[in-house]
Amino acid sequence: MITVQLSGGRTAACYLSGKFNPGALPLVLLHGFCEDSSVWESLLDGLEEAVVLRIDLPGFGNSSPAGEPGMEGYARVVYSVLNALEIKRCVLAGHSMGGYTALAFAKAYPEKLAGLSLVHSHPYADTPERIEGRNRGIEMLLAGKKDLYVAQLFPGLFAPAFAQANPEVVDALIEQGRKQPAEAIIAALQAMIGRTEHLNTLLDSQCPVQLVLGDQDSIIPLDNALSTAVLPTVGDIRVLPGVGHLGMIEQPKQTAEALRDFWRFCGLKTP
Ligand code: MLT
Repeated sequence: MITVQLSGGRTAACYLSGKFNPGALPLVLLHGFCEDSSVWESLLDGLEEAVVLRIDLPGFGNSSPAGEPGMEGYARVVYSVLNALEIKRCVLAGHSMGGYTALAFAKAYPEKLAGLSLVHSHPYADTPERIEGRNRGIEMLLAGKKDLYVAQLFPGLFAPAFAQANPEVVDALIEQGRKQPAEAIIAALQAMIGRTEHLNTLLDSQCPVQLVLGDQDSIIPLDNALSTAVLPTVGDIRVLPGVGHLGMIEQPKQTAEALRDFWRFCGLKTP
Protein backbone atom coordinates (compact mmCIF):
# COMPACT_ATOMS: atom_id res chain seq x y z
CA MET A 1 0.00 0.00 0.00
CA ILE A 2 1.19 3.52 -0.79
CA THR A 3 -0.14 6.35 1.35
CA VAL A 4 -0.35 9.67 -0.44
CA GLN A 5 -0.49 12.80 1.72
CA LEU A 6 -3.24 15.21 0.74
CA SER A 7 -4.05 18.71 1.95
CA GLY A 8 -5.54 19.15 5.44
CA GLY A 9 -3.71 16.10 6.83
CA ARG A 10 -5.87 13.72 4.80
CA THR A 11 -4.41 10.69 3.02
CA ALA A 12 -5.28 8.49 0.04
CA ALA A 13 -4.39 4.80 -0.11
CA CYS A 14 -3.35 3.20 -3.37
CA TYR A 15 -1.86 -0.08 -4.52
CA LEU A 16 0.64 -0.49 -7.31
CA SER A 17 1.39 -3.67 -9.23
CA GLY A 18 3.74 -4.18 -12.17
CA LYS A 19 7.04 -2.46 -12.85
CA PHE A 20 6.52 1.25 -12.45
CA ASN A 21 8.85 3.54 -14.38
CA PRO A 22 8.50 7.17 -15.45
CA GLY A 23 7.73 6.18 -19.06
CA ALA A 24 4.97 3.72 -18.20
CA LEU A 25 1.33 4.37 -19.02
CA PRO A 26 -0.47 3.09 -15.91
CA LEU A 27 -3.92 1.58 -15.87
CA VAL A 28 -5.69 3.25 -12.94
CA LEU A 29 -8.67 1.42 -11.44
CA LEU A 30 -11.44 3.07 -9.38
CA HIS A 31 -13.81 0.84 -7.43
CA GLY A 32 -17.58 1.24 -7.10
CA PHE A 33 -19.98 2.16 -4.31
CA CYS A 34 -19.46 0.62 -0.86
CA GLU A 35 -16.35 -1.22 -2.03
CA ASP A 36 -12.60 -0.67 -1.93
CA SER A 37 -9.61 -1.45 -4.14
CA SER A 38 -9.65 -5.13 -3.20
CA VAL A 39 -12.65 -5.62 -5.50
CA TRP A 40 -10.18 -5.61 -8.43
CA GLU A 41 -7.84 -8.27 -7.00
CA SER A 42 -9.02 -11.13 -9.18
CA LEU A 43 -8.09 -9.14 -12.32
CA LEU A 44 -4.45 -8.61 -11.44
CA ASP A 45 -3.18 -11.90 -12.91
CA GLY A 46 -4.76 -11.05 -16.25
CA LEU A 47 -3.25 -7.56 -16.15
CA GLU A 48 0.27 -8.51 -15.19
CA GLU A 49 1.88 -6.89 -18.23
CA ALA A 50 0.46 -3.49 -17.18
CA VAL A 51 1.42 -1.14 -14.40
CA VAL A 52 -1.83 -1.10 -12.42
CA LEU A 53 -2.69 1.50 -9.81
CA ARG A 54 -5.78 0.89 -7.67
CA ILE A 55 -6.99 3.81 -5.57
CA ASP A 56 -9.29 3.65 -2.53
CA LEU A 57 -11.82 6.43 -3.12
CA PRO A 58 -12.22 8.94 -0.25
CA GLY A 59 -13.61 7.42 2.93
CA PHE A 60 -13.38 3.84 1.60
CA GLY A 61 -10.73 1.20 2.28
CA ASN A 62 -7.73 2.95 3.81
CA SER A 63 -8.37 6.47 2.47
CA SER A 64 -9.46 9.48 4.51
CA PRO A 65 -12.87 11.04 3.90
CA ALA A 66 -13.07 13.55 1.05
CA GLY A 67 -12.09 17.15 1.71
CA GLU A 68 -14.59 18.31 -0.92
CA PRO A 69 -18.02 16.83 -1.57
CA GLY A 70 -19.34 15.24 -4.75
CA MET A 71 -17.79 13.35 -7.65
CA GLU A 72 -15.60 16.40 -8.26
CA GLY A 73 -14.10 15.96 -4.77
CA TYR A 74 -13.33 12.31 -5.55
CA ALA A 75 -11.86 13.29 -8.93
CA ARG A 76 -9.61 15.84 -7.27
CA VAL A 77 -8.22 13.16 -4.96
CA VAL A 78 -7.47 10.94 -7.98
CA TYR A 79 -5.72 13.91 -9.59
CA SER A 80 -3.67 14.56 -6.42
CA VAL A 81 -2.64 10.89 -6.25
CA LEU A 82 -1.49 10.90 -9.90
CA ASN A 83 0.49 14.09 -9.34
CA ALA A 84 2.06 12.77 -6.14
CA LEU A 85 3.24 9.68 -8.05
CA GLU A 86 4.39 11.86 -10.98
CA ILE A 87 2.01 10.15 -13.39
CA LYS A 88 1.53 12.49 -16.35
CA ARG A 89 -1.09 10.44 -18.20
CA CYS A 90 -2.98 7.24 -17.55
CA VAL A 91 -5.75 4.98 -18.77
CA LEU A 92 -8.50 5.46 -16.19
CA ALA A 93 -11.10 2.72 -15.64
CA GLY A 94 -13.96 3.16 -13.20
CA HIS A 95 -16.47 0.60 -12.03
CA SER A 96 -19.98 2.03 -11.68
CA MET A 97 -19.56 4.86 -9.11
CA GLY A 98 -15.86 4.75 -9.98
CA GLY A 99 -17.01 5.44 -13.56
CA TYR A 100 -18.99 8.47 -12.37
CA THR A 101 -15.78 9.66 -10.72
CA ALA A 102 -13.80 8.94 -13.89
CA LEU A 103 -16.26 11.06 -15.91
CA ALA A 104 -15.90 13.96 -13.46
CA PHE A 105 -12.12 13.50 -13.79
CA ALA A 106 -12.35 13.47 -17.61
CA LYS A 107 -14.21 16.78 -17.54
CA ALA A 108 -11.83 18.47 -15.09
CA TYR A 109 -8.47 17.03 -16.18
CA PRO A 110 -8.73 15.77 -19.79
CA GLU A 111 -4.99 16.28 -20.33
CA LYS A 112 -4.29 13.45 -17.88
CA LEU A 113 -6.17 10.83 -19.89
CA ALA A 114 -4.85 8.49 -22.57
CA GLY A 115 -8.05 6.44 -22.30
CA LEU A 116 -11.28 6.22 -20.31
CA SER A 117 -13.01 2.93 -19.54
CA LEU A 118 -16.49 2.83 -17.99
CA VAL A 119 -16.99 -0.58 -16.41
CA HIS A 120 -20.71 -1.17 -15.73
CA SER A 121 -21.18 2.59 -15.66
CA HIS A 122 -22.86 5.37 -17.66
CA PRO A 123 -22.88 9.16 -18.07
CA TYR A 124 -26.48 9.85 -16.99
CA ALA A 125 -27.60 11.68 -13.85
CA ASP A 126 -29.85 9.94 -11.31
CA THR A 127 -33.57 9.51 -12.06
CA PRO A 128 -36.07 10.73 -9.40
CA GLU A 129 -36.74 7.07 -8.45
CA ARG A 130 -33.05 6.44 -7.92
CA ILE A 131 -32.73 9.56 -5.78
CA GLU A 132 -35.66 8.39 -3.68
CA GLY A 133 -34.00 4.99 -3.17
CA ARG A 134 -30.70 6.61 -2.21
CA ASN A 135 -32.43 8.92 0.29
CA ARG A 136 -34.08 5.89 1.89
CA GLY A 137 -30.59 4.38 2.16
CA ILE A 138 -29.25 7.52 3.86
CA GLU A 139 -32.11 7.32 6.40
CA MET A 140 -31.26 3.68 7.15
CA LEU A 141 -27.59 4.48 7.58
CA LEU A 142 -28.34 7.44 9.86
CA ALA A 143 -30.53 5.10 11.91
CA GLY A 144 -27.51 2.85 12.47
CA LYS A 145 -28.66 0.06 10.13
CA LYS A 146 -25.50 -0.21 8.04
CA ASP A 147 -25.22 -4.00 8.17
CA LEU A 148 -28.79 -4.43 6.98
CA TYR A 149 -28.30 -1.83 4.24
CA VAL A 150 -25.17 -3.54 2.94
CA ALA A 151 -26.72 -7.02 3.16
CA GLN A 152 -29.60 -5.84 0.96
CA LEU A 153 -27.38 -3.97 -1.48
CA PHE A 154 -25.09 -6.58 -2.96
CA PRO A 155 -26.99 -9.80 -3.80
CA GLY A 156 -29.05 -8.14 -6.57
CA LEU A 157 -25.94 -6.78 -8.27
CA PHE A 158 -24.82 -10.21 -9.46
CA ALA A 159 -26.49 -12.10 -12.32
CA PRO A 160 -29.08 -14.36 -10.58
CA ALA A 161 -27.46 -17.63 -11.71
CA PHE A 162 -24.04 -16.49 -10.47
CA ALA A 163 -25.40 -15.43 -7.06
CA GLN A 164 -27.18 -18.74 -6.66
CA ALA A 165 -24.11 -20.79 -7.58
CA ASN A 166 -21.63 -18.69 -5.56
CA PRO A 167 -23.22 -17.62 -2.25
CA GLU A 168 -19.79 -17.39 -0.58
CA VAL A 169 -18.66 -14.81 -3.15
CA VAL A 170 -21.77 -12.72 -2.48
CA ASP A 171 -21.10 -13.00 1.27
CA ALA A 172 -17.48 -11.91 0.81
CA LEU A 173 -18.60 -8.74 -0.97
CA ILE A 174 -21.16 -8.04 1.75
CA GLU A 175 -18.31 -8.43 4.26
CA GLN A 176 -16.22 -5.93 2.28
CA GLY A 177 -19.18 -3.51 2.35
CA ARG A 178 -19.58 -3.90 6.12
CA LYS A 179 -16.02 -2.69 6.61
CA GLN A 180 -16.78 0.66 4.98
CA PRO A 181 -17.71 3.49 7.37
CA ALA A 182 -21.35 4.66 7.33
CA GLU A 183 -20.14 8.27 6.86
CA ALA A 184 -18.32 7.32 3.65
CA ILE A 185 -21.36 5.44 2.33
CA ILE A 186 -23.62 8.42 3.07
CA ALA A 187 -21.17 10.84 1.40
CA ALA A 188 -21.07 8.56 -1.67
CA LEU A 189 -24.88 8.39 -1.85
CA GLN A 190 -25.00 12.20 -1.67
CA ALA A 191 -22.30 12.46 -4.33
CA MET A 192 -24.24 10.15 -6.66
CA ILE A 193 -27.49 12.08 -6.06
CA GLY A 194 -25.75 15.37 -6.84
CA ARG A 195 -23.81 14.29 -9.90
CA THR A 196 -24.47 15.84 -13.29
CA GLU A 197 -24.95 14.21 -16.66
CA HIS A 198 -21.74 13.71 -18.66
CA LEU A 199 -22.96 13.12 -22.23
CA ASN A 200 -20.98 16.17 -23.37
CA THR A 201 -17.88 14.92 -21.58
CA LEU A 202 -18.04 11.80 -23.75
CA LEU A 203 -18.89 13.81 -26.87
CA ASP A 204 -15.92 16.14 -26.31
CA SER A 205 -13.55 13.38 -25.27
CA GLN A 206 -10.19 13.53 -27.04
CA CYS A 207 -9.13 10.09 -25.82
CA PRO A 208 -10.48 6.62 -26.65
CA VAL A 209 -13.43 5.50 -24.54
CA GLN A 210 -14.37 1.93 -23.65
CA LEU A 211 -17.64 0.55 -22.31
CA VAL A 212 -17.58 -2.77 -20.45
CA LEU A 213 -21.13 -3.95 -19.80
CA GLY A 214 -23.02 -6.96 -18.51
CA ASP A 215 -26.15 -8.12 -20.30
CA GLN A 216 -27.76 -8.94 -16.93
CA ASP A 217 -26.85 -5.75 -15.11
CA SER A 218 -29.82 -4.56 -13.05
CA ILE A 219 -28.19 -1.21 -12.20
CA ILE A 220 -26.89 -0.17 -15.61
CA PRO A 221 -29.40 -1.46 -18.19
CA LEU A 222 -27.62 -2.53 -21.35
CA ASP A 223 -29.77 -0.52 -23.82
CA ASN A 224 -29.35 2.62 -21.81
CA ALA A 225 -25.58 2.32 -21.64
CA LEU A 226 -25.21 1.24 -25.27
CA SER A 227 -27.05 4.36 -26.43
CA THR A 228 -24.05 6.42 -25.28
CA ALA A 229 -21.62 4.44 -27.41
CA VAL A 230 -22.13 6.75 -30.40
CA LEU A 231 -20.77 9.76 -28.50
CA PRO A 232 -17.01 9.21 -28.22
CA THR A 233 -14.83 9.39 -31.30
CA VAL A 234 -13.12 6.08 -30.65
CA GLY A 235 -15.18 3.50 -28.82
CA ASP A 236 -14.58 -0.06 -27.71
CA ILE A 237 -17.59 -1.96 -26.42
CA ARG A 238 -17.45 -5.25 -24.55
CA VAL A 239 -20.71 -6.86 -23.55
CA LEU A 240 -20.09 -9.73 -21.13
CA PRO A 241 -22.80 -12.37 -21.57
CA GLY A 242 -24.46 -13.74 -18.44
CA VAL A 243 -22.82 -11.04 -16.30
CA GLY A 244 -24.57 -8.63 -13.92
CA HIS A 245 -23.00 -5.51 -12.41
CA LEU A 246 -19.71 -7.05 -11.28
CA GLY A 247 -17.74 -8.39 -14.23
CA MET A 248 -14.48 -8.25 -12.27
CA ILE A 249 -15.90 -10.86 -9.89
CA GLU A 250 -18.33 -12.73 -12.16
CA GLN A 251 -15.98 -13.07 -15.14
CA PRO A 252 -12.53 -11.82 -14.09
CA LYS A 253 -10.68 -13.34 -17.06
CA GLN A 254 -12.87 -11.68 -19.69
CA THR A 255 -12.98 -8.39 -17.79
CA ALA A 256 -9.19 -8.34 -17.42
CA GLU A 257 -8.82 -9.12 -21.14
CA ALA A 258 -11.12 -6.23 -22.05
CA LEU A 259 -9.14 -3.79 -19.90
CA ARG A 260 -5.77 -5.13 -21.03
CA ASP A 261 -6.69 -4.85 -24.73
CA PHE A 262 -7.95 -1.32 -24.23
CA TRP A 263 -4.86 -0.31 -22.24
CA ARG A 264 -2.63 -1.74 -25.00
CA PHE A 265 -4.61 0.15 -27.67
CA CYS A 266 -4.34 3.43 -25.74
CA GLY A 267 -0.60 2.84 -25.32
CA LEU A 268 -0.20 2.53 -29.08
CA LYS A 269 -2.03 5.82 -29.57
CA THR A 270 -0.02 7.65 -26.90
CA PRO A 271 3.27 9.11 -28.13
C1 MLT B 1 -22.05 1.11 -7.82
O1 MLT B 1 -21.90 -0.12 -7.95
O2 MLT B 1 -21.07 1.87 -7.77
C2 MLT B 1 -23.45 1.66 -7.69
O3 MLT B 1 -24.37 0.61 -7.78
C3 MLT B 1 -23.75 2.72 -8.68
C4 MLT B 1 -25.12 3.29 -8.55
O4 MLT B 1 -25.84 2.99 -7.59
O5 MLT B 1 -25.50 4.10 -9.43
